[in-house]
Parts: sequence; C-alpha cells; structure tokens
Amino acid sequence: MCSQEGDDYRLLKEYANGFMVSQVLFAACELGVFELLAEALEPLDSAAVSSRLGSSPRGTELLLDTCVSLKLLQAAVRGGKAVYANTELASTYLVRGSPRSQRDMLLYSGRTAYVCWRHLAEAVREGRNQYPKAFGIPSEELFSAIYRSEDERLRFMEGLQDVWRLEGASVLAAFDLSPFPLICDLGGGSGALARACVSLYPRCRVIVFDIPGVVRMAKRHFSAWEDERISFHEGDFFKDPLPEADLYILARVLHDWTDAKCCHLLQRLYRACRTGGGVLVIESLLDADGRGPLTTLLYSLNMLVQTEGRERTPAQYRALLAPAGFRDVQCRRTGGTYDAVLARK
Ligand SMILES: C[S@@+](CC[C@H](N)C(=O)[O-])C[C@H]1O[C@@H](n2cnc3c(N)ncnc32)[C@H](O)[C@@H]1O
Repeated sequence: MCSQEGDDYRLLKEYANGFMVSQVLFAACELGVFELLAEALEPLDSAAVSSRLGSSPRGTELLLDTCVSLKLLQAAVRGGKAVYANTELASTYLVRGSPRSQRDMLLYSGRTAYVCWRHLAEAVREGRNQYPKAFGIPSEELFSAIYRSEDERLRFMEGLQDVWRLEGASVLAAFDLSPFPLICDLGGGSGALARACVSLYPRCRVIVFDIPGVVRMAKRHFSAWEDERISFHEGDFFKDPLPEADLYILARVLHDWTDAKCCHLLQRLYRACRTGGGVLVIESLLDADGRGPLTTLLYSLNMLVQTEGRERTPAQYRALLAPAGFRDVQCRRTGGTYDAVLARK
C-alpha cells in the first residue's frame, strides 16, 4: 500500500469507527463510571467497579480499558491488578455536578439524538426529521415531539444548558450588549444563558420567554429564577404577544425552523422591539460557501434528523433578517461552538 493509500484507509477506518467511540463515552456516562470513580477514595479495580455499578465483570473490564485508551480514565497497577481513576478531562467535563460538566448533553446525545441519527439515510431521502421512526411519534408539532414526556423535556433542558456554562460569556461578549438594558431571551429554556448574561452585564434585566411547560420546569428544576434580574414569561413566540425589549436573543432557535417560520418570527419580533433596539442571533455559523466547518455541517444534519431547520451561512441569516426590517447586520465568529449575529431596528 502506498503512503497515500495507507492514509486514506486509516481515515476511512477512523470515520467508520467514530460511532463506537461515541458509544463508549455515552455508555460510561449512562452507567455512572465517572461519578463512581470521582467519589471513590482511591482508584478502583474493575471487579470493584462492576460490583458497585451492578454491571458484568467482562463488559466492565472492556469498557474501562477502552476508556483508558481514549484518555477518559487512567490506569495503574496495584498488587498485580489494574486500578482505574478519572483523568483531568473526565473530572472536568464528565462528572455530574462539576462546574464545567457536559454530562447531561452527552446523555441527551446518547439517548435521543443518536436514535434519530440511526435513520440518517431515510432523513436525507425524505428531507424530514426521524421522530416517527426513532420513537414512534408524530412530529408535525416539533416541540410536542421533542418534549414527548416530562422526563424528555427535563433531559433536553439539562442537556442544552451545559454549553452555556462554558461558552455563554464568550458568545455574549462578541458584541457589547451594555446599551441594551432590557433583554428578552426568546426560547430561553432553563435560563442558563440569561444567567451568563446578567453575570456579564450586571445592570441588565432578562426576560426568559418560552412555552408554559418549559417555564414550569425551569422554575421547578433550575435556579435562574432565583436571580431578581431574571424573570420568566410563558407563551408561544409564533402566536402570543412578545414582551417589549431593547434586545431579543435567539440562541439556537432559528436553526430549528424553516426559512418561512424564521421570517414570521423575526417580523413579530421586529414589531415588538423598541426603536434603537436589536436582535442577537446565536448559532453555529457555516462558512460562506456552506461547506464547512465540519462541526457545523454535522449540526446541520442533526437539525435534519431532529427538527425542521438547518444551520446557515452569514448571508443566509442576513437574508432572513433584512426583510423583517433589521439593518446593520454584523456577524462575529467567536472561535467557539457558537457565533453571534447582531442586527438593529
Ligand atoms: C433548541 S432550544 C434552545 C434553548 C436555548 N435558547 C439554548 O440555546 O439553550 C429551542 C427553545 O425554543 C423553545 N420554543 C420552541 N417553540 C417555541 C414557541 N412556539 N414559543 C416559545 N418557545 C419555543 C423551546 O422550548 C426551547 O427552549
């Protein structure tokens, strides 16, 4: 095999095995491997892990060794036996309760997104999301499908907030938002981004607007409402009156919807917006030619299998914002997962 052929073959195997790596990560999170090792007073051998997790000795040993190879765990030998502990990566990002934990997003990816991705070829053929095949439920009302049970709603809200603990401040700092004292975070979910907003701009107030079931759950399970600068408002942003504000945030909202629904939402929001105000769209931006970055393209396919929408280029966001009346559209890449587009009324 020539060296080019060898590289191509290696790349092919890496792509083909990618799903196995994801599944190792999801399974270890699901089983609680990282919490167990975080709580243990010393590194544990695989028999101790399997007996405390109630998992099979054979499966547990294989999973732990693979986690070591993926740098999620570290192994040492004590008394002739391998013992396992979390790596820095696992302690920081995988243990429940760590301030930077991404565990809930991983659980959501493993239990929900992955099941829809199983039907990617059908999604491409049909051009629509795969809730009917993945979960046997209709998906005409997108968020009725996404929130098909109270557990699913909570799992979605928990998963979505993880990224804002890490990247909320940087995406909100892409533009100076201090001229906007009253901000409305439309589709603001648990209020995690609202928290990042008041901590970066201590003088602003944020209204989190979302559908009633989400607001109810935000108040029951999350703590944003405890901050007096944050309030919650129930409603349907396609139909109900929108609170007046200086700035509307749409974070990971437009990517859920068709162009026609985005235009409808942006027109409503323009009418409600105070003169001199604006809208801040937070999304992962595609390159101008629509063929990169890879992560954003994968997110766009994720929108195909799970929603009605897609990720968009800066020009595509301009084409949605301008007809609604917004001007001075500026796009800023943050270097992180999500970027920012600010437009003014
Ligand atoms: C993909 S999530 C993004 C949540 C949050 N902005 C974030 O970035 O973490 C979309 C949000 O829009 C809300 N949503 C969907 N349809 C809505 C509607 N018709 N009216 C109000 N909120 C809606 C959902 O409940 C959800 O919280």
